[in-house]
Formats: sequence, C-alpha cells, structure tokens
Amino acid sequence: MTDQNIALVGLPGGGKSTVGRQLAKRLKRTFIDSDTVIEQRIGCSIRSFFEREGEAAFRDIESAVIADHCGDQATVLATGGGAVLRELNRKNLRAGCQVIYLRSTPDELFRRLRHDTQRPLLQVKDPLGRLRDMYGERDPLYREVAHFVVDTGRPSVPSLVNMLLMQL
Ligand code: S3P
Repeated sequence: MTDQNIALVGLPGGGKSTVGRQLAKRLKRTFIDSDTVIEQRIGCSIRSFFEREGEAAFRDIESAVIADHCGDQATVLATGGGAVLRELNRKNLRAGCQVIYLRSTPDELFRRLRHDTQRPLLQVKDPLGRLRDMYGERDPLYREVAHFVVDTGRPSVPSLVNMLLMQL
C-alpha cells in the first residue's frame, strides 16, 4: 500500500462518495469529494451553476479542482462522473493517483437515481436512456484511466470497501 492518492471514477450513483468516505476512514486518510469542492468554489449547487453557466464552464472548474487535488498525498478523492471526459483530467488522475473504476450497469444506476433531482444531466424525460448513453460513451474512458475495475452490482458497501482494501 502506497501513500499515493486514491481516486474513484465511475458513473453517477455508483457509490463513489459513499465508498470513498468509508475507504478513507478505514485507511485513516482525508476524504475529498470533488463535487463538494466545486460547490464551495462556485458558491451554489452544481445544478444551478449548470443551468446558469452551462456545462463547459462547469467542466473548466472541475478540471481545475482535479488538477489541484490529484497529486495530494494520503487522500481518497471521489471524482464527478464526467471528470474523465477531458483528456487532461484522465492524464492528471492516472499520473497522480491509484485510480479505481466503480462500475455499475445503467439499470442499477437508474434504480438508485430514479428520484434524483440534483444531477443536471439526468433531469430529462428518459433518464435510463441517458444513463445508457453515458455508459456507452464513458465506460471506455473509465477503463482507460483506471488501474483496476470493481463491479458494484451485488456487494454491500462494507464488502466493496473490503474488496478494495485487498487490492490496493
Ligand atoms: C456529472 C456527475 C456529477 C456532477 C455533475 C456532472 C456527470 O457527479 O459532477 O452533475 O457528468 O456525470 P456524481 O458522479 O458524483 O454524481
């Protein structure tokens, strides 16, 4: 086990924040949620920032936050689901962190997120269709950046954390 930062990537609803927080606790590391850092910087919710400024402005701030935190020591960093869309973020994450892809199927994610009102990209008529499209576009990017992949399907959060601790 190195002191290198651990980063979690994956689609929204895959458990990056929940698993990341528990993993950090078990490893006695600081937990950083990039969406929370972004909201502190912009001073409002991601959803209202998206509506006001648009996705590209959000991605610029997200990239700055990732650049600031990917080289930290002894932290666990949960990234936003779209962080891998930019090549620079993939490069930064891969270089600075041990990257874990928490993989879930669009159907599982839909079950967990069907009542969500906070994720701007899912406020559409057909969120399951949107999740399927996001999976199609992003799964190869998550795999490209990740040092290893963990399926979140069946195991409980504590079991997932134990599995991760064995692989790190
Ligand atoms: C996004 C995922 C969100 C948040 C923003 C955009 C995405 O983070 O960064 O709403 O593009 O998938 P979570 O993956 O933590 O929900």
